[in-house]
Amino acid sequence: MKVNKIAVVGSGYVGLVAAACFAELGYSVVCVDNDLERVAALNRGEVPIHEQFLPELLERHRNHRLHFSGSLAEAVQSCSIIFVAVGTPPKDNGEADLSYVESVAREIAQNINGYKVIVEKSTVPVYTSNWIRRVMLLTAQAECEFDVVSNPEFLREGTAVTDFLYPDRIVVGADTPRAAKILRDLYSPLTSGSYYGSLDKIPEPDGITGPPPMIVTTAKSAELIKHASNAFLAMKISFINAVANICEEVGADIEQVAEGVGSDSRIGPRFLRAGIGYGGSCFPKDVAAFRAVALECGYEFGLLDEVMKINETQRQRFMKKIRTALWTLKGKKLGVLGLAFKGRTDDIRESPAIALVEELVAEGACVTAYDPAAMTRAQEALGTRIKFAESISQAAEGADALLILTDWDEFASLDLSQIRKQLRYPIVLDGRNLYSLEEMEAHGLMYVSVGRRASALKQLAKVG
Ligand code: UGA
Repeated sequence: MKVNKIAVVGSGYVGLVAAACFAELGYSVVCVDNDLERVAALNRGEVPIHEQFLPELLERHRNHRLHFSGSLAEAVQSCSIIFVAVGTPPKDNGEADLSYVESVAREIAQNINGYKVIVEKSTVPVYTSNWIRRVMLLTAQAECEFDVVSNPEFLREGTAVTDFLYPDRIVVGADTPRAAKILRDLYSPLTSGSYYGSLDKIPEPDGITGPPPMIVTTAKSAELIKHASNAFLAMKISFINAVANICEEVGADIEQVAEGVGSDSRIGPRFLRAGIGYGGSCFPKDVAAFRAVALECGYEFGLLDEVMKINETQRQRFMKKIRTALWTLKGKKLGVLGLAFKGRTDDIRESPAIALVEELVAEGACVTAYDPAAMTRAQEALGTRIKFAESISQAAEGADALLILTDWDEFASLDLSQIRKQLRYPIVLDGRNLYSLEEMEAHGLMYVSVGRRASALKQLAKVG
């Protein structure tokens, strides 16, 4: 079967990026969403998320190879490959809510008019492919031919487009040779390297060594690969945060320790940055969901409890550092740099920065915050509880301390002399370890970070 037209259901982070990138690979794509306002906005040319290269791709392909629609029925009838990239939000017990996936499967079955490959792109627990199959068989009126494939996505917010086009690997969980072949053909512009030879390709990030391998597994294995990958990365972060806490107790330096540990090629240097814990729409949700799936299968995955616990404690430890530096918080004026859950995104879902700001406000602190991209979303979440600054400098002006909560590039190159002049007290609390103690103290600033020696209080007395 020659791939010509693809449907992508869901225009959220994964769906929209996948749709734009498949169009970039030369396919005709219809991206479907039941949020008609979002569809209209996309058709008007609006770009709903802050993501490098996405505006270029949407501009390049919109109304040519890429179309947005509110009709799943039409998309099902006109496409033989249907990617499902709808939300799987967490329920109270940590399990993923799969009701959107189920209703999409039902609607596909109601409109099926020939062989279809239904591809799970959303992060779903193991066995979801079986459930989709069952729902389809129960719903379809007549005998219908289809396969369900799991093709998890590993893109990160902020680098989503290049992660999609230059992945480390492509995982395809297909239980029939026919479906596996279709997915192999679909991704051949990447696996053969032909896309990388095109003149107007999206530029490759550093460190790309060649076309990605495709790993073909069963659907269940692919579902597990996704959950296990995210849980493992979250575990790396919690692990290094736990080691950072020991560093603080013994006077060692987590940056040195992480470099030494990460230089072992079996461990690797990435995802070993200590800080205020992981956030975002994936790790918190996926670790909890994987924990819940394991339990349902009869396995008590206690390691994941600890990963979650360390992540929560990490924020509380940072709160304690703020209290130690400032004593009482009521009425204190705090400048906050960063509200997004990490740099290069406007996403504030499960952002440790937002959680900290909420706690600070609850304790009576007056927060003035600045973020290069997440201001609109943060305003929606925090309303009038804090003040929003238009610049770094406005956030720092007259503050009793400056807090760095997100690892934006611009926060790593602050004009420290200027900051020193603007702050009422020369205190910087850095939850992302963007500076060295020496550099801060050379500018007369007292510096507290994570897993490293902090300025002594006498330092504050000296420069204050
Ligand atoms: C994560 C995974 O990295 C992707 O591979 C995956 O596809 C995605 O979830 C998903 O399942 O959709 P993302 O949530 O965009 O991507 O962000 P990450 O870059 O992984 O960062 C997650 C959180 O961990 C952030 O709050 C970040 O600040 C924190 N982090 C990351 C650390 O605290 N230390 C590190 O060393 C790395």
